[in-house]
Amino acid sequence: MFTSLAAPMPENTFMAKHLEENKGAEGKKKKKTKKHKDQTWAKEGPQDPFEMLDSLPEEKQQEIQKALHLFSFGQGPPKSLLEAQKHTYRFWDTQPVPKIGMMDSAQLETTLPVCISTNVIHSLLDEKVTSYGPIKTEMPSVREESYSLPQEFIWDTLDLDNQKQLRELCDLLNENYTEEDDNTLRLHYSPQFLLWRALCPPGGQSQWHCGVRVNSSQKLVGFISAIPATMKVFDIELKMVEVNFLCVHKKLRSKRVAPVLIKEITRRVRQQGISQAVYSTSAVLPKPIATCRYWHRSLNPRKLIELNFFSLTHNMTLQRALKLNRLPETTKTTGLRPMTVQDVQVVQALLKEHLKAFHLSPVLTLEDVEHWLLPQDGVIDTYVVESMTGTVTDMVSFYTLPSTALNHPVHKDLKAACVLYCISKATPLLQLMEDTLIICKARGFDVFSAMDVMDNKAFLEPLKFRMGEVHKQYYLYNWRCPEISSDKVGVVLK
Ligand SMILES: CC(C)(COP(=O)(O)OP(=O)(O)OC[C@H]1O[C@@H](n2cnc3c(N)ncnc32)[C@H](O)[C@@H]1OP(=O)(O)O)[C@@H](O)C(=O)NCCC(=O)NCCS
Repeated sequence: MFTSLAAPMPENTFMAKHLEENKGAEGKKKKKTKKHKDQTWAKEGPQDPFEMLDSLPEEKQQEIQKALHLFSFGQGPPKSLLEAQKHTYRFWDTQPVPKIGMMDSAQLETTLPVCISTNVIHSLLDEKVTSYGPIKTEMPSVREESYSLPQEFIWDTLDLDNQKQLRELCDLLNENYTEEDDNTLRLHYSPQFLLWRALCPPGGQSQWHCGVRVNSSQKLVGFISAIPATMKVFDIELKMVEVNFLCVHKKLRSKRVAPVLIKEITRRVRQQGISQAVYSTSAVLPKPIATCRYWHRSLNPRKLIELNFFSLTHNMTLQRALKLNRLPETTKTTGLRPMTVQDVQVVQALLKEHLKAFHLSPVLTLEDVEHWLLPQDGVIDTYVVESMTGTVTDMVSFYTLPSTALNHPVHKDLKAACVLYCISKATPLLQLMEDTLIICKARGFDVFSAMDVMDNKAFLEPLKFRMGEVHKQYYLYNWRCPEISSDKVGVVLK
């Protein structure tokens, strides 16, 4: 998938240049410290900047992280189409993905009636895709060796059966992965969740757990992963990978490390003969095939308000919020029970039928259904509805994704459930989903989240979900197809 075409300057050159500049700055700092011999915390302690940060008291580290977070505002890739139209994609413009231009062809005709070169027209034009197929049919041959890193860094394929390495990956993600813009909550990945999500799905390849370490300290500072996935895109089934967990340590941001990670995972995936990928992020890159949105249903309104997850609007008091979000004590649906291994086949059949309606959906084998949907404590839950005659008629599945509350005097975490699939055939959809909310509340979840994909829109407003601020952009690498509306998206990219 992410193959490197002729980039104006190789990304690893940028990275090396940035790191050199950084080293220069470090050098100057060192000279200064010599003058002030009494300020010796750095002199006595470890020399590696990551170790230095780790050696500080927890409170100090949190302050520094908060400052880094504040300073990183305004940087990073565009978050809206408007910003994207003004952004120069130094890396993504070299990749086989559709372009984001400044305007559509109608706008261009009225704005630029003069004679200008076709290159300029092409760069202004927003690519409206109406056909299907690979963007690059003839890919250059796959290079044998890994992309080079500056000498301070080395590649490391993580062995995630190894508890120590799995823990290192959890630490990297928990300290550096996505967090709310106000620095209040940060996703918390458990080893079990990572094993489920990223590491051992059927057909998973260990070389697709691609890490970057600091050579001297062996600290893990970058990661990207891929898992195999067969996706139906409109009517075509494609063997591809789902790329996820792209993460660069906060201290290494904006140094063009991400493009090198993307190119390296592309190389490793292409070595297995796969040239397409699906991925998602909140950033607007060239070019989303679908834009989806998260919605959230409050299960513990008091805590969510205290954590600033929801705020009270001018005519909403806490009492009213509690009343509005109250749920019945017990579920209504007879025969609603956790899925067991005996249900795998029937659940696969339900999904196969259900997913036919969407333009982007996974093709799931029995092993996939077993892996992705069989309940695992604290990771994934699936409930089925079994009728009096023993037939499974409906299903709902959701995964658990807790966050750590940062710097909060009372709350340490926030427990969220996120819906994956819901299929209602014999049970009304609203009843099935309300029962799911009741179960989640009883099990201590604070919030239940859903994206506006598949049929979810039908229950979001009636069940008092609130629209979230975050959009999730879906992308395909090296595959052209028309845009897909969110209700025609049949997959939740986690
Ligand atoms: C995403 C992340 C790895 C980007 O690293 P960075 O240091 O900010 O960016 P770099 O300088 O290394 O690279 C910049 C390039 O990467 C692209 N990029 C940034 N975020 C990206 C993403 N999520 N997916 C793909 N490309 C991305 C930028 O658009 C830019 O390319 P461009 O010149 O074509 O616009 C880093 O911000 C991070 O670890 N964030 C927290 C985890 C996260 O949000 N991961 C993505 C969630 S799916």
